[in-house]
Amino acid sequence: MTKQINTIAVLTSGGDAPGMNAAIRAVVRTALARGKKVFGINRGYNGLISGDIFEMNSKDVSDIIQKGGTVLRTARCKEFITPEGQKRGADMCKVFGIDGLVVIGGDGSFKGAEKLANLGINTIGVPGTIDLDIACTDYTIGFDTAVNTAMEAIDKIRDTSTSHERCSVVEVMGRDAGYIALWAGIVNGAEAVLLPEKQNITQEELIKTIIQNRNKGKKHNLIINAEGSPEDSVKLANRIEEVTGISTRATILGHLQRGGSPTAVDRMHASMMGAYAVDLLCKGKSNRVVAFKEGKYVDYDIIEALKMQKSISEKRYELSKILSI
Ligand code: ADP
Ligand code: F6P
Repeated sequence: MTKQINTIAVLTSGGDAPGMNAAIRAVVRTALARGKKVFGINRGYNGLISGDIFEMNSKDVSDIIQKGGTVLRTARCKEFITPEGQKRGADMCKVFGIDGLVVIGGDGSFKGAEKLANLGINTIGVPGTIDLDIACTDYTIGFDTAVNTAMEAIDKIRDTSTSHERCSVVEVMGRDAGYIALWAGIVNGAEAVLLPEKQNITQEELIKTIIQNRNKGKKHNLIINAEGSPEDSVKLANRIEEVTGISTRATILGHLQRGGSPTAVDRMHASMMGAYAVDLLCKGKSNRVVAFKEGKYVDYDIIEALKMQKSISEKRYELSKILSI
């Protein structure tokens, strides 16, 4: 028999991402529209365990769709990785009468969601991470904003780099995935992109390319280095300068890529996915992840989703090389 859901809670977990607020808003307002009671849980699984939980109404999510970060705050919670922590979380849901939960986060957060589902709390994951590294979905909330932020920052670095006829090594985020780096490589017109997924360019080859580019008359060289690539950005910049004699600077873009007002793309996906998650709960579904696949919103079993693999697009990688000549 389908479990009737009366009270839905929402939390954000792991690294924050622009668009998480739009997703929270969509969960809260869709749930209210379906006649459900709604709770917000502060600071991810930490707040769930400690009972940092409050009832939310429509006004609580006013004026947040345009804001970066997450109004529910986020955290990484070690205790929740243990069976005892998970049991405390499930017990706290029962204390507040929470029978449906939406977890906005990445793969780690979904592992926690799966544990709660096994403990009887109907739980749905919504993919929120700038890294785009969730295998079951073509889109994760925050990616578009992060790439646009990186692109604008790198354009600025290019201005000064060209003026000084320098080489720039720019490190972008992405943890073990190179999606932000590959996109930046193409949209910023980089001379080379170093990715965790493609460890096929040696330092010598890279330096040779930079020298050839100088001989061709290029005024500057832009190297995008993904956070997860084996190259250390500062050491690489020093080595390039030492061997080529070209003045070289390393810039690590860092957390500025995680902030800022979400783009329309992020707000739209966040709104659609948040509402979709609530509708799954209303249908009595649990242990599912919302995904955007081949232009459609769909959902997958969490365990199945966590087993899936994806990699960067070979076509885009080839294009980044062709366009850098
Ligand atoms: P993300 O969700 O962005 O991948 P993390 O990997 O840091 O971020 O995970 C976020 C949180 O999810 C962790 O701090 C922890 O509370 C929870 N989590 C991660 N892995 C597990 C696990 N195997 N079992 C239960 N909870 C987990
Ligand atoms: O997962 C998002 C992300 O920004 C990664 O790109 C990065 O590796 C990591 O989080 C940084 O985490 P923290 O904010 O804990 O330094």
